[in-house]
Amino acid sequence: LAIGGGTAVAVNFRETAPAAASATMFLGPDGQVDRSRATRSLLSTAVPGSVAGLALAQRCYGRLPLAQVMAPAIRLAAQGFPVSRELGDSLAAAAPRLQADPVSRSLFLPPPVPGTVLRQGELAASLRRIAAEGERGFYTGPVADALVGAMERGGGLITHGDLRAYRAQLVRPLRREFRGHPVLTMPPPGGGLTLLQLLGILEPFDLAATGLNSAASLHPMAEAMNLAYRDRNALLGDPDQVPVPVERLLSPAHLDRLRRRIDPQRHTPAPALEAAAATEGTNTTHLSVADRQGGLAALTTTLNFPYGNGISVPGMGFLLNNEMDDFTALPGSANAFGLRQGTANAIAPGKRPLSSMAPTLVFRPDGRPWLATGSPGGSRIITTILQVLLNRMVHGLNLAGAVAAPRIHSQLWPDRIDAEEGLSPDSRRLLEAMGHGVRQAPAMGAANSVEVLAGGGSLGTVDPRRAEGPAVAE
Ligand code: GLY
Repeated sequence: LAIGGGTAVAVNFRETAPAAASATMFLGPDGQVDRSRATRSLLSTAVPGSVAGLALAQRCYGRLPLAQVMAPAIRLAAQGFPVSRELGDSLAAAAPRLQADPVSRSLFLPPPVPGTVLRQGELAASLRRIAAEGERGFYTGPVADALVGAMERGGGLITHGDLRAYRAQLVRPLRREFRGHPVLTMPPPGGGLTLLQLLGILEPFDLAATGLNSAASLHPMAEAMNLAYRDRNALLGDPDQVPVPVERLLSPAHLDRLRRRIDPQRHTPAPALEAAAATEGTNTTHLSVADRQGGLAALTTTLNFPYGNGISVPGMGFLLNNEMDDFTALPGSANAFGLRQGTANAIAPGKRPLSSMAPTLVFRPDGRPWLATGSPGGSRIITTILQVLLNRMVHGLNLAGAVAAPRIHSQLWPDRIDAEEGLSPDSRRLLEAMGHGVRQAPAMGAANSVEVLAGGGSLGTVDPRRAEGPAVAE
C-alpha cells in the first residue's frame, strides 16, 4: 500500500490456488482436515505472488531500475551476512519442518551459530535472473522448471500454466475516516476491511477516558473484535470469486448494529454470537517507509508460517509458502491460526485465500501523510494494527510507546482473550468478572511503523517484540 505524488494505491499480490485445487483437497478419508497435508506438504503451496507484486510496484512507481533495486539483496545472498541470534533461534525453532526436506536441510541446517556467515549462492542466482528478466525470470525458464519439477515429483499441484497465469493487481485501497483522520488500508482478500470495521465500531467509545489497557477499554475492544471476526469468518473471501458486501459491512447502519450487540457489562460468548449471525443471512514480514517527497509505503508479505512449509525448490535457493492453509479446508474447522472460516473462503481454482495482512496508511485531517503501519502475525495482524492506531490516535502515546504497549487479541473462536505479558492483574480480574476467558499469550505481531513528523522529517519505530512463530497449531 503506498502513496506517492498524491495518489494512493494497493498492490494485491496474494497467492492463488492452482487450477487443479479443490474445496475438499485437504480432507482425509475420515472427512476431517489432514493438518499435515494442509501445512507441510507441496499441496499447501499456493502460486507465489511476491515476485509479480514487487515487480509490478517497481514498474509502475519505481524511480530506479529493477536491477539496481535488487543489487543489495543479491550481494547479501552471494557474499553472505553474519547470522543474528534471532535468525539462528528462529531456524532452530523451524528445524523439525526444515529437516523433513533434504533441500531445506542442506541450505539451513544445522542452524548456523550466531556470527557465522550465511551465503546463499543458489538464491543469488535466482535473484539475478529476476533482476535481468523481471518476473519472467521467476514464472518461466529454469526457476519455473525447477519449481514445477519439484511439484511433479512431490505430489504438488502447481503447473507451468499456473505460473504463467499469475497476475498481481493494482487495486483501490479501502478508505474510512477515524476521528477526522483518513485511514487507507488493504481491501479483501487482505485484512483491512476488518480493521476498518473495528475502528468504526469503537469510534464512539471514549477509550481515552477509560484508559489504555483498562478492563473498561479492553472489554468493548475484545467484543468488537469478536463481532468483526464473525463477519470475516462468514462473509469474506476473494472478491474476484465470491461477492463480498464491502459497502454494507462498512456502512454506518451495519456498524451501529454491531455496536449495539456489545453488552457493556458482560462478555457475549462465541456460541451466542455465532447463533445470532445465522439469522442475519448471509508471516510474515512488515515494513513501513516514508520518503522526503511525502511518499509513504506499507508492505506486508508472507510465506504463511515462518519458512512456509519448510520445502525448498531444488537448486534455486528459496522456500515455498503454505498459504493454502489460509483457505477454509472444512467449514467450521480451525486452521493454524484457530480461525474457523466459511464457504466464502473455500478453495477454488485461481482463487486467492483470505488474508489478515492489512498494511495501513493514516493521514492528518488536512490530508498530509502521517503514519504507515502493519504487522505480521496471522489472524493477530488486524488487532495488532488496531491497537497501534488506538494507542497513537486515542491514547496519545508516541509511536514507540504505541507499538510497544502490551496487546490483546480476540477472534470469536477460540472464545477467549489472548493477552501479552504486562496486562495488569486488575484489568484481567475485571475482564474475568465480565465473563471473558483471559489467557496469557506469547508476543503478538511486529508492527514496524513510521510517522511523518509535523515539523518535517520522519521517525521510524521497530517493534521490540521477539518475532514469534505465528502458527497457533501446525
Ligand atoms: N498467512 C496469514 C495471512 O495472510 O493472514
